[in-house]
Amino acid sequence: MAEQKKLLRSLNGETLDTPPVWMMRQAGRYLPEYRATRAEAGDFLSLCYNPELAAEVSLQPIRRYGFDAAIMFADILLVPQALGSDVWFVTGEGPRLSTITTPDQAAAMKPADAIHDKLSPIYETLRILRRELPSETTLIGFAGAPWTVATYMIAGRGTPDQGPAHALKESDRATFEAVLDRITEATIEYLLMQIEAGAEVIKLFDSWAGSLKGDDFTKYALEPTRKIIAALKAKHPNTPVIAFPREAGLAYEGFAKAVGADCLALDTKVDLKWAADVLQKDGCVQGNLDPKLMVEGGDRLISETKRIVKALSGGPHIFNLGHGITPDANPENVHVMLEAIRGT
Ligand code: CP3
Repeated sequence: MAEQKKLLRSLNGETLDTPPVWMMRQAGRYLPEYRATRAEAGDFLSLCYNPELAAEVSLQPIRRYGFDAAIMFADILLVPQALGSDVWFVTGEGPRLSTITTPDQAAAMKPADAIHDKLSPIYETLRILRRELPSETTLIGFAGAPWTVATYMIAGRGTPDQGPAHALKESDRATFEAVLDRITEATIEYLLMQIEAGAEVIKLFDSWAGSLKGDDFTKYALEPTRKIIAALKAKHPNTPVIAFPREAGLAYEGFAKAVGADCLALDTKVDLKWAADVLQKDGCVQGNLDPKLMVEGGDRLISETKRIVKALSGGPHIFNLGHGITPDANPENVHVMLEAIRGT
């Protein structure tokens, strides 16, 4: 039997001498080859729906850096589009969507099993990647967690405080929950198809989990994530899941067990000693270098990278950033980070 891939070994709970590594947003604008392929595709969404070119941009960081994992190229906002929202991207500003704020608009969302027509190119991207990736590289599929996706569908854009989604939750809980439930069902459909198309690991991005507090966190961040993972594990018990309840703070404790995740992705604010003492007891953790250091570079990039590796060396760890690499990052700094991790 071929030796198991490094990333999968960490997700299975093994403590390795050097952690496997990949980066959130590793396929992206900091790479000149990404910008060239995106220009060839025309725009960002056309790139997402073009399986050959989407696979190409997922492969680019693997060729350049030899990461232990490739993440399929797509976006969390393709699910809203498949559910019937209008979605477009304004250059330099970010995503725009039609809004959902009334019971009628919520009722007009497509049924969860109607998403596959629109999303079938994504499954093709995964099939291409499984063929073309080096045998040691793990393929990661993903979706946004329901709360984070809902914040965009309700507001029609990114918001600093997720105000519109919180407002709907308070003023019309039934409509808010209808939106969340439909996203949850669609996400289960989508991720099952990703696994069948070749995704070996699933990551759930709850980028705005930190703005839910108390009971709301349990009901709208933890519970939908638990439901999705339970549905995936019922059919694919051996496919590991990475959960990312970003900025959940103390609510990180116990989260992996409560939702059934194999790994917790840590944001930049999570204290390393606490992560090692408390979170790593429940299994693998991933993270959490500050993406700013990929812009800054230099000695601090090296010392912080080594500090993270050392602090989490007593248990299963996947090295990553605490959030996505930014367009102004220097591609050479990725080599510096890798050298600090791998010592090569
Ligand atoms: O390497 C990868 O990680 C590629 C796949 C990927 C993208 N987006 C591509 C992308 C993944 C996993 C995402 C996740 C995503 N998308 C999240 C969750 C993670 C996080 O960052 O918190 C969220 C909230 C989104 C929604 C989204 N997509 C926003 C807010 C934006 C605009 C902001 C920005 O960074 O430009 C996007 C656009 C986007 N998604 C880009 C990429 C490479 C940039 C688009 C471009 O090329 O212009």
